Amino acid sequence: MISFLDLKKINKPYEAAFQQKLKAVLENGWYILGKEVETFETAFAKYCKTDYCIGVGNGLDALTLIFKAYIALGKLQKGDEVIVPANTYIASILAVLQADLVPVLVEPRLETYNINPDLIEEKITPKTKVILAVHLYGQLAEMDQLSQIANQNNFLIVEDAAQSHGALQNANNLKFKISNDLDVALSGDKGLSRAAAYSFYPGKNLGALGDGGAITTNDSELAKVLISLRNYGSEKKYYNEYIGVNSRLDEIQAAFLNVKLPNLDADNDKRRAIAKRYLSEIKNDKIVLPFWDFSNNHVFHLFVVRTQNRDDLQSYLSDNGIQTMIHYPVPPHKQKAFSKWNTLSFPVTEKIHNEVLSLLISPVLTEEEVSFIVEVINKY
Ligand SMILES: Cc1ncc(COP(=O)(O)O)c(C=O)c1O
Repeated sequence: MISFLDLKKINKPYEAAFQQKLKAVLENGWYILGKEVETFETAFAKYCKTDYCIGVGNGLDALTLIFKAYIALGKLQKGDEVIVPANTYIASILAVLQADLVPVLVEPRLETYNINPDLIEEKITPKTKVILAVHLYGQLAEMDQLSQIANQNNFLIVEDAAQSHGALQNANNLKFKISNDLDVALSGDKGLSRAAAYSFYPGKNLGALGDGGAITTNDSELAKVLISLRNYGSEKKYYNEYIGVNSRLDEIQAAFLNVKLPNLDADNDKRRAIAKRYLSEIKNDKIVLPFWDFSNNHVFHLFVVRTQNRDDLQSYLSDNGIQTMIHYPVPPHKQKAFSKWNTLSFPVTEKIHNEVLSLLISPVLTEEEVSFIVEVINKY
C-alpha cells in the first residue's frame, strides 16, 4: 500500500540534524521560550515577510489568540460576528467560538473550495466585524475581493494559514504578494491590521514532531498582546496584564522546525510538480480535478478531487494499493457538536463533503508512484 502520508519518510532525512538539536537543547538547559523559539520566530517572520512571528502551542490556539488579542485591544467585542467558510476544517470555527465570537457560515466556490466572496454581502449584519480567510488545501482565498469587502465595511481580515505555509511567497502575479502586506495595500490604516495563524501539526507542509503553531503579523500592538496572552497574560514574570493561556511553541519543536524551514520552498515545489502531473495526466470523466489558477502560488497541502461515487473510488484505489483520505467527511454544520446548525442548508458545502477525495501528494512521493496512481485512476 502506498500510504497517504509517510511521516517517517518525510522526517528521515533530518534525523541526524534533529538529534544534534535535541542534544543542544538538552545541554542548554532552557526548555521553555528559549533560543530555538526565538530563532524560529525570527526566521519564520522573515520567511513570511512579516514584522512579527509569535510561536504558540498549535494552530487552533494561534487563531483563537488572534481573536482574543483583538478583544483585549478593544477592536472586537464578545458576540461580534465572524464570516467563516462553511466547508472549513472545524478548528477555524472552534477558534471563533473559543473567543466568544459568533461564526457566520458562508458557502465556498465549488471550483476552488474557498469562500465565495460574492455570497458574503448577504450575511453582513451590524455585528459583522471580521472575515476569516481560510486558505483551504493550500490555495489562497480570493484576498483582493475579501479585502475590498473588508475595506468597504471596516472589517478585520484574519487568515487561517494552517494549510498554506509558503503560499504567499514568490507569488509574482498576485496583487498582494504576502498576506500581511494587506495593511499596506489597503488604506495603510493600522486599525485594519491583520494576522495569520499557522499550524505545525506533523502532517502540515511545515510539520513539527508534535504540536506547534504561530501567528504572523505586522501589527506591533497586536504582537505585544499575543506575546503576553500565550504566556498566562504576562510579559513580565508574575505580573499579569491579561487573562491569558499557556500556549507556547515548545522549545524542542521549534528546534526541529528550525531544521526543516529551509526546505519548505523545495518541498512545496515538489508538491506543485506532482499537482501539475495529476492535472495534466489524469484523464477520467468521472473525476473533477481541482481548479488551480497558475498565477496563484498554491502549495497543495492537499490535492482534492471530486467524484459522484466517492466511496467507490476510494475502495477501488485501496484495492489497488493506494491509500486516500477524505477532507472532510462531515461539514461543520452537520456535526453533532453543532446541533443547532444541523437543520441549516449549505448545498455547495454538502456536495463538497459528499464528493471530495484527497489523492496522495507529499514531497516524498516518487515519480513512479505518481505514474502508478495516475494509471490506476485513469482505468477507473
Ligand atoms: C484549516 C485549519 N485550521 C486550523 C487548524 C488547527 O491547527 P492545529 O491542529 O495545529 O491545532 C488546522 C489543522 O488541522 C487546519 O487544517
